Amino acid sequence: MGRQCLVPDFPGGDMLSPMGKIIPPVVASGSMTGDGPPVIDIDDAVRLRAWRADDAGVVVDAFADPDIQRWHFRRYDTEREALDWIEATWRDWRAERAATWAVVWTDTDEVAGRVTVYTALEDGHGEVSYWMLPQFRRRGIASRACTAATRWAHALGLHRIQLEHSVENDASEHVALRCRFHEEGVRRGATMHADGWHDMRQYAHLATD
Ligand SMILES: CC(C)(COP(=O)(O)OP(=O)(O)OC[C@H]1O[C@@H](n2cnc3c(N)ncnc32)[C@H](O)[C@@H]1OP(=O)(O)O)[C@@H](O)C(=O)NCCC(=O)NCCS
Repeated sequence: MGRQCLVPDFPGGDMLSPMGKIIPPVVASGSMTGDGPPVIDIDDAVRLRAWRADDAGVVVDAFADPDIQRWHFRRYDTEREALDWIEATWRDWRAERAATWAVVWTDTDEVAGRVTVYTALEDGHGEVSYWMLPQFRRRGIASRACTAATRWAHALGLHRIQLEHSVENDASEHVALRCRFHEEGVRRGATMHADGWHDMRQYAHLATD
């Protein structure tokens, strides 16, 4: 799925039977309904929609970008591989593990990027992740998409949305701060990248923020 950060409690829930638990699930299973994540019109210009099979070429282009490869640890060289990625987004929605949207221009439906909220319904947690195609960067699109996806997650009932990036990823840091995530610290040597272990800066946005 191109997920960047592997915070230990994702995907959520433990493997034990719910019998004996004294705290009910924060969000009931069955809350992520329908065939895929809902269309969200962020403003007049930008929309979030589910990925479609005919977006496969854009996914190949995205993962050819060195920055997306660097921070998301993978590449897809063929449309068949990209379609596998798209189909995984559909499976993750049906399994209530993640909502992944294409970020598109509303008037042309051209894909500018991707935003995901990984969901741990029982725990009431989420984690947001994003990339933008190079030609669409520095126009505030990632910030708007991340904010909209976070709002959607809180509206679903998730209390805490996490975000994490390498301390070397300045662009992602700016997005996190622009989206009013609160910094919570740095996990040292937390995630293996192509050039070795990186310290990872953590943030969260609470429903009450
Ligand atoms: C990170 C990324 C999604 C940002 O997308 P974007 O659409 O350019 O971000 P925005 O336009 O919303 O910019 C938000 C802020 O980041 C700043 N910013 C964007 N790119 C930056 C860069 N390369 N260096 C420093 N600041 C940057 C913007 O100036 C803006 O700052 P401001 O709030 O002070 O005005 C994009 O650079 C990207 O796809 N990078 C490769 C993949 C990646 O890093 N994914 C995130 C992994 S955690």
